Amino acid sequence: MADNQNLESLHTPGAVFFIFGATGDLARRKLFPAIFSLYREGKLAEDFAVIGVARRPRSQEEFRDDVHRSIEEFCRYKVKDDSEWNTFAEHFSYKSLDINNLEGYRELQQLTEQVEERFGIPGNRLFYLALAPELFGSVSFNLEKGGMLSSSGWHRLVIEKPFGYDLTSAHKLNEELNQVFKEEEIYRIDHYLGKEMVQNIEVIRFANAFFEPLWNNMHISNVQITLSETVGVEERGGYYDHSGALRDMGQNHMLQMLTMIAMEPPSRLIPEDIRDEKVKVLRSLRPYASHEEVKASVVRGQYSEGKQGDKVLPGYRQEDKVNPESNTETYFAAKVLVDNFRWAGVPFYIRTGKRLPVKTTEVVVEFKPMPTNVYLRQKHDLAPNLLVIRVNPMEGIYIKINAKKPGSDSQIEPLAMEFCQSCQIGINSPEAYERLIYDAAQGDSTYFTRWDEVAAAWAFVDKIAAAWAEAPNDIDLYEAGSWGPDAAHELLAKDGFHWWPVNGQDEDNVIWIKNSR
Ligand code: BG6
Repeated sequence: MADNQNLESLHTPGAVFFIFGATGDLARRKLFPAIFSLYREGKLAEDFAVIGVARRPRSQEEFRDDVHRSIEEFCRYKVKDDSEWNTFAEHFSYKSLDINNLEGYRELQQLTEQVEERFGIPGNRLFYLALAPELFGSVSFNLEKGGMLSSSGWHRLVIEKPFGYDLTSAHKLNEELNQVFKEEEIYRIDHYLGKEMVQNIEVIRFANAFFEPLWNNMHISNVQITLSETVGVEERGGYYDHSGALRDMGQNHMLQMLTMIAMEPPSRLIPEDIRDEKVKVLRSLRPYASHEEVKASVVRGQYSEGKQGDKVLPGYRQEDKVNPESNTETYFAAKVLVDNFRWAGVPFYIRTGKRLPVKTTEVVVEFKPMPTNVYLRQKHDLAPNLLVIRVNPMEGIYIKINAKKPGSDSQIEPLAMEFCQSCQIGINSPEAYERLIYDAAQGDSTYFTRWDEVAAAWAFVDKIAAAWAEAPNDIDLYEAGSWGPDAAHELLAKDGFHWWPVNGQDEDNVIWIKNSR
């Protein structure tokens, strides 16, 4: 029996979860651990089953051992004892399948019917494709032809990014999927939308009278979104060299976070209304009018050899499976403008890169300075107020204000008041994939990207990619372990701003007041 502590809402309806790509990295690191956490928290119905699907042969025992190891290694809960494990593992089966062979799908259908009968599952089927995107179309067709979509319950398709390579290929992929699944049956994953603090942006904005009235171009001078990573491309050089930072992180995670910051309050808290508001932001992004404008507003970088402490880090072109003459960007920073009444004139600066000094995702909202000609600003150099949303790996928020230094006549010092969610004892935030698998099984598509969002994001990004394709050698190298090309700093300096230090590595004179619950 699952342990029902922390149960905060209904469990999912009984369903079979098919994990295509069950022997792959995503399944091992994220999906199996997420399913176990949901089970442990009582969020999975007792009548659930998981069928792992991949090409490699595996016995049921071997597969269950793989799942066990993945949970031991990557899950935030540990298996308590054999009895818990055996009850959980019973729900797992494995099917070796050549995904182009229709006969295999017919066998899968037979196995599924047996599993459904055994656990009393009412024909609900969730197909999670942790596969290369070029396979999404053919798997969908074969699911239909092999009879897998003929059961009496619901059928949902969950797919990983990247959704296409550009607008044209995304369109083609979408048309293929639409021949089999309706838009409301397709759940496109952007795992950033499953992160606690990204979801918290809505609450911080719309549940606090402090913020919402100020959330516009009258009071905010700029917004900065940083998604920095210390890792290089690791073993993903083959994929990454064709993708680059713009497609890997920009088109999806970064623009999605931007929409959460910039969107209008939805009229109702239902998935379609929320997604309508997000797509309006994406449609309001000012397209770069020319290649010159791309050059002036977007910085493109690639890491060269560098150091982290004493460790020498190879340059991108020396990485495994990367073309030694590659011009793929591992960093980009852009100035993005949102042309609507709320945001006209407020730059959103976004940056992401591999091999930067720290792993962090943060959103900084910088408020406009107090007027220079009145009262305190005549005498003091006041720092602007900031609201910082820390998404990952630290989770929390802090606000930076100005206050009088105790005991002084009128000396002013900046004060950062922090609420650290991830520092709380006993709070173990759910992983993004737990939330997303749970939502997909519940039929809640709020934190999945709708086709029109994907298309609008590609339309914006394609303009940058086209300009870069014209000038492939126009790329700034930065040393691995540094904060990226100097041009990214100039991008803000031209507007009179600078990137705020991330990860609480604030200037020395800031007094920190740290708190958890
Ligand atoms: C993935 C990208 O979508 O997000 C990776 O493909 C990147 O390149 C990863 O490393 C970052 O995710 P997170 O959750 O670790 O910040």
